[in-house]
Amino acid sequence: MPWTPKTTTPILTKRIPSAPYGDPKDRHIVRYDEYARTGGYEGLRKALTMKPEDVVAEVKDAGLRGRGGAGFPTGLKWTFLPKHDPANPQPRYLAVNADESEPGTFKDRLLMDFDPHLMLEGIAIACYACRLTKAYVYIRGEYYHQAMVLEEAIKEAYAKGVFGQQGLMNGAANASGGGGEKWSVECHVHRGAGAYICGEETALLESLEGKRGWPRIKPPFPAVKGLFGRPTIINNVETLAHLPSIIENGKQWFLNQGVQGSAGTKLFGVSGHVNKPGLFEFDLGIPLSTLVNQYCGGMRGGKKFKGAIAGGISTGILGPDQFDAEMDFGIGPKYNVLGLGTACPTIFDEDTDMVMVARNLARFFKHESCGQCTPCREGSGWLYQLMTRIERGEGRTKDLDLALEIATGMGAMPGTTICGLADGNNWAVRTIINKYRDEFESRVRPTYVSVTVGAGAG
Ligand SMILES: Cc1cc2nc3c(=O)[nH]c(=O)nc-3n(C[C@H](O)[C@H](O)[C@H](O)COP(=O)(O)O)c2cc1C
Ligand code: SF4
Repeated sequence: MPWTPKTTTPILTKRIPSAPYGDPKDRHIVRYDEYARTGGYEGLRKALTMKPEDVVAEVKDAGLRGRGGAGFPTGLKWTFLPKHDPANPQPRYLAVNADESEPGTFKDRLLMDFDPHLMLEGIAIACYACRLTKAYVYIRGEYYHQAMVLEEAIKEAYAKGVFGQQGLMNGAANASGGGGEKWSVECHVHRGAGAYICGEETALLESLEGKRGWPRIKPPFPAVKGLFGRPTIINNVETLAHLPSIIENGKQWFLNQGVQGSAGTKLFGVSGHVNKPGLFEFDLGIPLSTLVNQYCGGMRGGKKFKGAIAGGISTGILGPDQFDAEMDFGIGPKYNVLGLGTACPTIFDEDTDMVMVARNLARFFKHESCGQCTPCREGSGWLYQLMTRIERGEGRTKDLDLALEIATGMGAMPGTTICGLADGNNWAVRTIINKYRDEFESRVRPTYVSVTVGAGAG
């Protein structure tokens, strides 16, 4: 049956009177007044009439899963925070993950480019619900323009009383009479310095504290001991941008979008060999082929689909026979990839040299490994060496098995590495070799085993 969208009005963009994401050329930065005039901050107003724990329950029951890559249920994560003690108020933090360094991923950027208040409203709702006192938006260093847009929007939000001591939260909650509680939140932008690893949540916290971005050993988990040793929630930009609509329209409305286990819509950023790359918002569950053929103008030059990076290179590769893969959180076990990741696929046509792709992605992981764990530090270097050798035509058949063994070792032993980067490297290299084995074999020389026949016979 052909795929049809359940959502005709995109959720993330529904209040934004500018052009759809697929066509960014006519878009503009939506300032506070325009955002509020078109229904913005209604979700926050409604949240402020609810008890914080009811907001948490609403998000949990809506089935919102993190949009940063791992797909962890958002409301459930919030429940891991220790109980707020009004008699002894202590700092508790929200770290907004705007690091967006996964190659091919550009979904958060467009949210911050044009619609900064959508995320700011989400931040205010999350902080109210979880009793968090301060939000830091950790934004990748290269997003200078986006950081400036955010700074301006945050200034507007302070002036309008969304953030700060005289905040909307204090006044509105009191006036609502609906069970809301007083709360005020501070919000700041912190620019990173351009390291992929700083998108990993605990490396992000280290970097925010002014230290080298090295992931922390867990437990303790950030919800218990996070930024500056205090309870901290880390959420992705897009995750937060979903909150206003969920609160405004209710959990059932959100559950009606998407598919079982993958509620709601998702931003899909498509790049690579398609006619019209871009960012689109659709229900989770849209087949990749529909995304490409119906919305991205088809394969570039009418070429055949050869494969795709599923959703950021850490997720691995979808093979030539997996073009119809449904883009939802169930994609991992069904199509032998790690998961949906950031849902920003890079499409390859029939002319793509997959060995070159493998060498290129191995180089990325080698460069970005922080070096704390031996399997990741050494393994990423070995994989890069092997892929380089094979690409040059100097590899042996046994190199393929060696690469698979190294990759599997990096991913399959929980506890031997501190963070998920090593496993991402494993999925990327392993799936590309396994799904294009013939192509790799045609580039290596057979491994001959030297056997002496009839030793001593002459
Ligand atoms: C190496 C590595 C890089 C990551 N980079 C990002 C990133 O750039 N942005 C992001 O939101 N999450 C990133 N993550 C995932 C975060 O650790 C974390 O799961 C996420 O920010 C949680 O937010 P969410 O639950 O709202 O998705 C990365 C994870 C790893 C292992
Ligand atoms: S797995 Fe790799 S990137 Fe992650 S902490 Fe260990 S060495 Fe660093």
